[in-house]
Amino acid sequence: MKKIRVAIDGPAGAGKSTISKIVAKELGFIYIDTGAMYRAVGLKALRHSLDTKKDIDAISKIVDDISIEIEHGQDGQLVFLDGEDVTSKIRTPEVSIAASDVSAIPKVREKLVELQRLLGQKQNVIMDGRDIGTHVLPDAQIKIFLTASVDDRANRRYLELLEKGTPCSLEEVKADIELRDKNDSTRACSPLKPADDAIVIDTTGNTLQQSVDLIIKTIRERLG
Ligand code: DC
Repeated sequence: MKKIRVAIDGPAGAGKSTISKIVAKELGFIYIDTGAMYRAVGLKALRHSLDTKKDIDAISKIVDDISIEIEHGQDGQLVFLDGEDVTSKIRTPEVSIAASDVSAIPKVREKLVELQRLLGQKQNVIMDGRDIGTHVLPDAQIKIFLTASVDDRANRRYLELLEKGTPCSLEEVKADIELRDKNDSTRACSPLKPADDAIVIDTTGNTLQQSVDLIIKTIRERLG
């Protein structure tokens, strides 16, 4: 039977991963967070003391033999970089910016898209990212573009970071989100934009439960 593929794209902090995780559990699908893979490459570049904005050739080289593995644990996805569990190490503000930088490098995208397509073939999946509906899984049965105002997104990310004990200020988080919005939507290679056949959902002002309910309803309607 043809596997069901749900693509969820949208800007940083729109709630893609939190919502997708819950929706995947509810529907019995596997959840794949593709941003985590770009974060793993960003972390590796930082560990090699590379300038993620300038050292394009060196970063293109490190993805040649990089190993990024995804495992599905009780609390969601675990990410392994060259065999090391980096699930929490990739969630720092520094790695967020590095991930956005390296995601503009064609060689990095090529490598990760190949990996993502393989993962998308195996089971029913919900895959979230920036180019899933436009590029990674263009034939996904359901494409959702999830967005929210910058203030709402910054506030959510800020609360998430505080909960994890990461020191930060709301202003810093907002500036970081605005910078990533700009980087992600203006890069030449697979920029962030809704697919022509995506359903655009704005979650500004919604509670998490409202957004989850709306997305499950949308998926069920589409799947008949
Ligand atoms: O979803 P996230 O914030 O964890 O993603 C980190 C960065 O990776 C983001 O700034 C853009 C990039 N990214 C991408 O270019 N394409 C994807 N499919 C997923 C993430």
